[in-house]
Amino acid sequence: MKIKIAYIFFLFSLLLYNCNSSSKEKSNSTKAKHKPSQQELADGFLLTESSCFSCHSPNATLESRIGPSMKAIKKHYITSNTSHEKFTKELAEFLNKPSGENSKMPDAIKKFGLMPKLIYSDEQISKIATYIYFTELEKPGWFEKHDQDQKEKFKQNTNSNLSPIELGKSFVMKTKAVLGKNLLGAINTKGTEYAVSFCSTRAIALTDSVAMSLNTKIRRVSDKSRNPNNKANKAELEYIAATKLDIDQGKAPKPKLTELENKHLGYYPIMTNKMCMQCHGQLETEVMSGTLSKLKSLYPNDQAVGYKTEELRGIWVVEIDKK
Ligand code: HEC
Ligand code: HEC
Repeated sequence: MKIKIAYIFFLFSLLLYNCNSSSKEKSNSTKAKHKPSQQELADGFLLTESSCFSCHSPNATLESRIGPSMKAIKKHYITSNTSHEKFTKELAEFLNKPSGENSKMPDAIKKFGLMPKLIYSDEQISKIATYIYFTELEKPGWFEKHDQDQKEKFKQNTNSNLSPIELGKSFVMKTKAVLGKNLLGAINTKGTEYAVSFCSTRAIALTDSVAMSLNTKIRRVSDKSRNPNNKANKAELEYIAATKLDIDQGKAPKPKLTELENKHLGYYPIMTNKMCMQCHGQLETEVMSGTLSKLKSLYPNDQAVGYKTEELRGIWVVEIDKK
């Protein structure tokens, strides 16, 4: 009996000890968060630059704006007593579910239309939040200088530290942001029908130009393609089938890396969201007749309609050099 009690006491003290040490660790790590490392800032910079600045450009003119500047966003989200944690939480809430209810900038929604949902992981959002929170975006002309400085400063830190699959992902995010910006710009200024012709002439060219600036090759392919040039090959179809199975079973779709002789090939899922439905959704209720006839004339063998949201629309195929 005594032994038992002693044992329980021992367990209990272990528990206490653990609680203490973990809360100690916690307060250390929040402290650490108040002073992000260069590496954390570098990661955040790379992500923010590639996925946010295309629409939240710090230096676009008012007319060419797709969304409010990051400086304006920061002003609405961070006041003198907003903690880093609170900002990260609120940013994640909006990015995970852009909506009027989650908005702190209803005027921006009126002016630009709601931000489309793009998929970011919690980890990415937290890095982006850290970068925005701890970087002064306020000074005039900061971006040109800052961008240059940061690029210099983080040159070694950024790309070289990423694994091939992460590097490919950063290429995809950059391309996605550029395509998204141009697509949204086309829809907002001239409507869906015009945007169809825009996509038709510009989507591949834009993808190529981003790829060229990154010195890589990027394609979008699908098992139900609109443009016959975007038809998936055998290996790509296998990945698409496996990914659809994952999604059916409620698993999050995962990217995949294959090795070729002197490079890697990265596959990354492309999911649909509400914004895509006007051109890839249900006929008549979502794809309106004007859009449909435009699509039919440009793509007589179009297979890319009838989708719902959160479905696999296709994949990015990215070439990543071996280091
Ligand atoms: C394809 C264009 C596009 C991209 C890329 C984009 N945004 Fe936006 N974002 C918008 C538009 C348009 C608005 C204004 C309408 C709104 O508030 O929803 C906006 C608004 C916002 C807002 C204010 C939301 C509110 O109403 O309170 C935040 C915060 C934001 N974006 C963060 C980000 C971050 C962080 C990234 C990068 C991870 C990003 N955005 C990438 C288009 C984009
Ligand atoms: C304004 C109409 C429009 C919208 C909105 C739109 N697309 Fe498309 N999409 C097109 C057109 C047109 C093409 C064919 C482009 C080409 O010829 O390369 C296309 C092609 C694609 C392709 C390449 C494979 C194929 O079928 O040829 C993918 C992947 C794709 N779209 C995904 C999306 C996703 C995901 C969204 C929403 C985030 C979206 N699209 C929104 C019109 C649109």
